[in-house]
Amino acid sequence: MPQTRNVAILVGSLRKGSYNKMAAKVLQDVAPSHLTFETLDIGGLPFYNQDAEENPYESWVHFREKVKASDAILFVSPEYNRSIPAVLKNAIDIGSRPPPKNVWRGKPCAVATVSIGATSAMASAFVIRQTLVAVGLACLPQPEVYLGKAADLFDENGALRKDDTREFLRKFMAAFGKWIETIHGE
Ligand code: FNR
Repeated sequence: MPQTRNVAILVGSLRKGSYNKMAAKVLQDVAPSHLTFETLDIGGLPFYNQDAEENPYESWVHFREKVKASDAILFVSPEYNRSIPAVLKNAIDIGSRPPPKNVWRGKPCAVATVSIGATSAMASAFVIRQTLVAVGLACLPQPEVYLGKAADLFDENGALRKDDTREFLRKFMAAFGKWIETIHGE
């Protein structure tokens, strides 16, 4: 059994009934038992402004410390107008600066996108991955997770309706668990 690894989750939707939040919950449920999770609050982070680096906001400092202390990152996000939701991009930008203190560099990560549409937020996943590579995160290459038609996938309590999707997500999280060990060199 690999050692315990703590995974920070960043969800790109702030809304209460978010399907992405539901998916994040399922991903935790099906994950290998050596992975522990904490969802980081990104909705309260002030917009990135380089001028603030002289005296950074407490919420920025706290967020950066949380990311730094994590062994891996799981991004779960919708697609906003074929791109990355601003709240998620803002969090990534905050973690990346100043460059010598970039808290993302070298960490393993995985991305899952969820949409109510048929295209499954795939465009968003590509934009997110592009940004994650730019800040030095090591993204799990395969399997890729794009969940479409989310309104049909989850019931009113946020439970997944489809066993085959749950099984697929289990394989994804198992692969992520192995990827974390690969990147940490064990
Ligand atoms: C969307 N939505 C959306 N869906 C999609 O598949 N492609 C897109 O480009 C967009 N664009 C978009 C922009 C904005 C501003 C909003 C608010 C929504 C719909 C989106 O998939 C839907 O609202 C999801 O339910 C959002 O995820 P959560 O909030 O349920 O996690």
